[in-house]
Amino acid sequence: MNEHRQFANFLYFQIFLNLFLTVIAAPDILPIQVDGNVYQIQEQSAIVYKKLPEAFWRYSTYKQDGSLAETYILNGFQDLAQSFYFVEQNNFLNFYTQDNPNFQILDLGKLTGQQPGYLQINPVFLKSQCTQVKIIRKYGSCYFYICSNPKIFFYELSINQLQTSTTSLSYSSIDMTQDYIMLYPSLLCYKGNIFTQFSSLTATSYQLIDQNYDFFLLDYSNFCIANLAVQTQTFSCKYSYFVGSSKSNLLLTKVFESNRKQLVFTWILDNSNPYYLRYEVFDVTNLQMITRDFANFEDITNSQTIIQYENIMFLSKGYKWNIAYNPQNNSIIGNQRSVTLSHQYLLVNEPFYNLNFQQGFTIFLNYDNSTNYLLDFRDVMNLNCPSGQHIQLDFTCSNSNCPSFSYLDKSKNKCYCDTNAFYSPSENSCTCYYGFTPSADNQTCVCQNGYYVISGYCQQCNDDCQNCYGPSSTNCLTCKSGKYLFSDSCLNCNTTGQIIQAQNCVCQSNYYQNGDGYFIKNIYCLPCDQTCQTCFGENKNQCQSCFENSLLYQSVCEEQYYNYNSRIDFIFKHYNLKYTFEYDIFIELQFNCKWIQFLKSQFSYSNKYKITSLNIQSAHLIQILISFHAVLILKCL
Ligand SMILES: *[C@@H]1O[C@H](CO)[C@@H](O)[C@H](O)[C@H]1NC(C)=O
Ligand SMILES: *[C@@H]1O[C@H](CO)[C@@H](O)[C@H](O)[C@H]1NC(C)=O
Ligand SMILES: *[C@@H]1O[C@H](CO)[C@@H](O)[C@H](O)[C@H]1NC(C)=O
Ligand SMILES: *[C@@H]1O[C@H](CO)[C@@H](O)[C@H](O)[C@H]1NC(C)=O
Repeated sequence: MNEHRQFANFLYFQIFLNLFLTVIAAPDILPIQVDGNVYQIQEQSAIVYKKLPEAFWRYSTYKQDGSLAETYILNGFQDLAQSFYFVEQNNFLNFYTQDNPNFQILDLGKLTGQQPGYLQINPVFLKSQCTQVKIIRKYGSCYFYICSNPKIFFYELSINQLQTSTTSLSYSSIDMTQDYIMLYPSLLCYKGNIFTQFSSLTATSYQLIDQNYDFFLLDYSNFCIANLAVQTQTFSCKYSYFVGSSKSNLLLTKVFESNRKQLVFTWILDNSNPYYLRYEVFDVTNLQMITRDFANFEDITNSQTIIQYENIMFLSKGYKWNIAYNPQNNSIIGNQRSVTLSHQYLLVNEPFYNLNFQQGFTIFLNYDNSTNYLLDFRDVMNLNCPSGQHIQLDFTCSNSNCPSFSYLDKSKNKCYCDTNAFYSPSENSCTCYYGFTPSADNQTCVCQNGYYVISGYCQQCNDDCQNCYGPSSTNCLTCKSGKYLFSDSCLNCNTTGQIIQAQNCVCQSNYYQNGDGYFIKNIYCLPCDQTCQTCFGENKNQCQSCFENSLLYQSVCEEQYYNYNSRIDFIFKHYNLKYTFEYDIFIELQFNCKWIQFLKSQFSYSNKYKITSLNIQSAHLIQILISFHAVLILKCL
């Protein structure tokens, strides 16, 4: 609010117009005859226009497709004429018209909330140096005050500073749209940044064609994709192309997309014949001219209005050019048709990329050299098809189903190629992009197993993978048979001890020879401790199962026989003695299976008894001799 208050302070007085409450009209239906100025308020997805023959201006919000949503009548609003606007605090729409002594400020909150006082008309301050104010504008955070006599300007970071600013710069020419201002040769303000260094360029005129690509036309003769060094305030060209026309009405479309390429369609001067113009198509990401398959189009020498809608270039004189990028061989496919229209349609403003409102199918056009309309482009092109029909790929109406690899967009009643297919105007068909293959019903294009989608393209996986999510051998999702998935890589599964199980290598649980087991560690199968049959690690306390003659106890395989808490008759045959006892007996053995200790004191005869005399040579033998008779735990150390 502060900024706005400051803004109000410098004005001599304010007039609040509370004459009428805002009237909300029913949404306007196309076509609408309008005054010659339609202002697109990009920040608000709205337009300000005057619907004729009524005398008042309107503010309408529009939907994505271009149809109008809500309309508010601007009572008391003064006529605009090649005006510019800027938005303050998201809500205050400031209109200044050159040489008009007043600002018109719309409070959009009040307007759309149907409250009174939505319009202020405030006088513009005149700086002592100026006899005429050309314009007051805001670009990003910079406010400009530009005098037309003398040709000087001020720029500051707030409107308050602008009022007190005494430092002026001069300019000789001015180019501006809603998006930038070039005060040649001093300064360019673009995307909220100031550029003052243009030494590498000799141009005097800077026309912005497309903000998304920093695409400028310099002196009407050079395309330039700008290189913007904000730190050094240097503006240079990253890519440039000499189109050579130097005509201020250079025929040029807006940037459009065809088959995933960002293109611009224009005429250029033929080097071999300086009076001959030809149509060419450029890739705007690098300003490369793209080879075209079609011969030059007709009616080249007459200045025309060119209107682009999707990939249709419509020439006011009655030609319709269907232009598309062919991704198969990086060329442009074109197709020319004449269209017979009952009226002549022209752009209201030249050039096409400036001040011409076009949103979805809604377009602002001049009609038969006399009246201006907001029109539904489909009406202009006879594309509002009779009931039951829809717009085919080539912008004709018919009731045929959309062809293979295309679908009907119901909201537009038009066939469009599947997102994974491209359009060819010469065949008037959609073809799956390289890598994609037809679905069973030929309706869509699918990226099969063994391929992955990147930036909308279907690419083959690395040879190592069966399925993947990226190009590298470390981007596998599944593996071909014989390979093992580890860390998203497919590795050979042929290390000793490995087998494939459902495309994974596993260690064979029963893969052991001479009593060896394996466990898996990273990609390797490593042998278990020799006491384990299977294991989860290399240590002897990481067994999972044990061989026949031992028992798993706390992940250790103990060589043992057990019969806990049993009452056992222990018979020593040699002496023919019979003892009866009820205790567990724990006897530790060395690995060579000599008795070394009786752990349980209850086995009171232990030390006296020479078990070695039993001629124990192997654990097996002990089992036979003792297991039937005693509760023993035999542990190999
Ligand atoms: C590109 O391919 C199309 C057919 O798909 C063919 O008609 C055209 O001549 C080719 N263009 C170039 C420049 O090779
Ligand atoms: C529009 O004006 C041009 C030249 O000014 C003229 O040649 C053309 O016939 C006019 N068209 C119509 C429909 O009046
Ligand atoms: C899909 O197209 C192919 C090639 O044109 C054709 O052989 C096949 O019969 C079509 N399948 C269906 C279901 O239409
Ligand atoms: C294991 O894989 C490598 C690499 O593929 C191969 O050269 C080798 O012959 C394979 N070994 C066995 C035993 O299959």
